[in-house]
Amino acid sequence: MNVSGSLHMPGDKSISHRSLILGALGVGESRITGILESQDVHSTAGVLRTLGVDVPVLSPDFVLRGVGSERFTPPAANLDCGNSGTTTRLMAGVVAALPIEATFVGDTSLSRRPMRRIARPLEAMGARVRLPEHGGLPMTIRGGALHDAAWTSEVASAQVKSAILLAALTSGVGATVTEPSRSRDHTERMLQARGAALTIRGTTVCLATGSSIRALDTAVPGDPSSAAFFAALAALADGGELRLIGVCVNETRTGFLTQLRRMGASVIEHNKRLEGGESVADLVVSPGRLVATTVGEGDVPAMIDELPLLACLAARAEGESVVTGASELRAKESDRITAVVDNLRALGATVTELSDGMRIVGSDRPLRGRVATHGDHRLAMAFGVLGAAAGNDIEIDDRDCVAVSYPGFWRDLERVRSE
Ligand code: S3P
Repeated sequence: MNVSGSLHMPGDKSISHRSLILGALGVGESRITGILESQDVHSTAGVLRTLGVDVPVLSPDFVLRGVGSERFTPPAANLDCGNSGTTTRLMAGVVAALPIEATFVGDTSLSRRPMRRIARPLEAMGARVRLPEHGGLPMTIRGGALHDAAWTSEVASAQVKSAILLAALTSGVGATVTEPSRSRDHTERMLQARGAALTIRGTTVCLATGSSIRALDTAVPGDPSSAAFFAALAALADGGELRLIGVCVNETRTGFLTQLRRMGASVIEHNKRLEGGESVADLVVSPGRLVATTVGEGDVPAMIDELPLLACLAARAEGESVVTGASELRAKESDRITAVVDNLRALGATVTELSDGMRIVGSDRPLRGRVATHGDHRLAMAFGVLGAAAGNDIEIDDRDCVAVSYPGFWRDLERVRSE
């Protein structure tokens, strides 16, 4: 398989969600360009509309008229978050600070994902949160005036951190959030850019009492988690190179690129620039002889969504790769440890499941068989990339689930690869 050409990466999912939520919370017009038009982002738009915000139909260039949280209205229906954990947890923070009651619902995958991690801090701030026994959805929140928050999170999670910061912002109280290690920092950057009094020291973020935000235009940069699939494709190719245009290279997101270089691929950043408070670059990726790698706890947050893809690459790299400190993968759209291990094994790879990761023995034997995605978009794309490598023949049970984060994925894959 060879690769050639260039691709403009779709908008970053995390920044897209936040551009809508912060656009709705600030008063005034925010022009949003390059938003990701995927199912997850539509879920956030839908939840905001159910709360009375006039969010226009998403398009590459539109204006959101923010009215401030005082003008949000009690929902006439449940808040349907679809498959999106970010929608649920960030909007839970907002709702916790409003004088309303709302019930968050979602699809089967989202409904089993852990919500106590946000319920506990939001309750400590004064909101009332009702969860089913299993701790997932449906989740009902009765919000209201909140107290200051001082929270130490057990997990490095941008969703937990953001839920608390958004609750504090909406309620006008202060918040201090400490994480075990730094998770993606888009909420902090975007709050600061909009005028909030927010400081960061090490792994602690502090939002001052009475912070408010103004409307601000957002140019959403390309999603590094989507770019990762094509960087991996180029790394696995027999020849050629791929140019990925306009990728956000915020260092809380680029752990996968670091690993890719360590494994032997060539990843070069061109034209690095600052756009809307984020570092953006064009990436040129070409193949190399791939060798095994090691991923430990400290590496995980900056590549949390790319670990299934890394495991697929490791199955083609020389030697044994080891991933540890990644038990968070079990709380994603699927249990991404068991699902990746089972699928790689079904294809003929030698893999060991660990409680917090996996061991993968690489080989150049062809990998053949059918993959069960469990409706998880990142599994579909990771195994789609592995299936494109020479000699492999992999059938994906649910190709359509890529619509959650990258609706054009299969089309882009066909555009840049050739036999
Ligand atoms: C996200 C944070 C991460 C990530 C998810 C998007 C965000 O989740 O896995 O895809 O936009 O804040 P956690 O915060 O649960 O690690």
